[in-house]
Amino acid sequence: MEYLGAHLAFKSRWHKTDEELCRHSMSLVLHKAIRTDFFASYLYLLERLPLVKLYALTSEVIEGEMQFYARARNFYSDLPATEDGMMGDFSDLSNTDIECSKEFLRKFVGGPGKAGTQFALDCGAGIGRVSKHVLLPIFDNIELVDMTESFLEEAQNYLEEEGERVETLYWYCLQDFTPAPRKYDVIWMQWVSGHLTDKDLFEFLLRCKHGLKENGVIILKDNVGKQGCVLDPMDSSVIRNIDILRNIIDRTGMSILAEEKQPGFPELCVPIWMMAIQ
Ligand SMILES: C[S@@+](CC[C@H](N)C(=O)[O-])C[C@H]1O[C@@H](n2cnc3c(N)ncnc32)[C@H](O)[C@@H]1O
Repeated sequence: MEYLGAHLAFKSRWHKTDEELCRHSMSLVLHKAIRTDFFASYLYLLERLPLVKLYALTSEVIEGEMQFYARARNFYSDLPATEDGMMGDFSDLSNTDIECSKEFLRKFVGGPGKAGTQFALDCGAGIGRVSKHVLLPIFDNIELVDMTESFLEEAQNYLEEEGERVETLYWYCLQDFTPAPRKYDVIWMQWVSGHLTDKDLFEFLLRCKHGLKENGVIILKDNVGKQGCVLDPMDSSVIRNIDILRNIIDRTGMSILAEEKQPGFPELCVPIWMMAIQ
């Protein structure tokens, strides 16, 4: 960490320039562009974190990985283990979400050249809302992974007798979790990718790639912003724009088979997109 002092010095120097330049001048715009590129290359060279380098924007809004994760842990530890807890203020939209997810998923499973229907993994599963309504009706067995213990405990009641087809509940943070190799037909990640830093999301997707069987797919469903990367300080998550997401996926060597916007949600909601990745 010998470069940390230099890093902080550079940061405060840039900050000073920010304060001094006229908000509307072209030099401020240029200054911001150069600053982003500067930090990108700088972090790459010194910290050797190639993904942070590419998404200086995310690393800036997060401002410290440990806090970012700790705040999310606190947020969820206080949340009720219910459908309302999983959906925030939008539990009445759960059915719309589920119907659309099922329709999207059907395009990629059960048929020649498509994913099989034996095993699925629900990442950031919470109490198992997606597992219960989307995955269990299709797959013989499923597994859930989530960082919040109380949600996984509740999952055992919430999934009722269908819960017998849950092979394992993993109490893990995704940034520390490795799916078993070539085990899953489908790996589902809903409303959790924004809880990972760019680097951790990239690395987790890479591990998921190795967890897929032949023709297996990853379905990523999440809020997608219009521009850049915005921090939601409430639950300590980021909303990325679709290009940042596409770029992270592209770097894993996988392709996006299809992407679709979730219809039927009110205009005031952040748009939600589904992406099938292979
Ligand atoms: C908004 S809830 C969504 C739950 C579920 N995917 C659904 O759609 O109903 C987000 C879930 O992600 C989990 N989560 C957040 N950050 C996580 C992390 N870093 N690793 C694993 N789980 C995480 C939370 O505990 C919570 O259960």
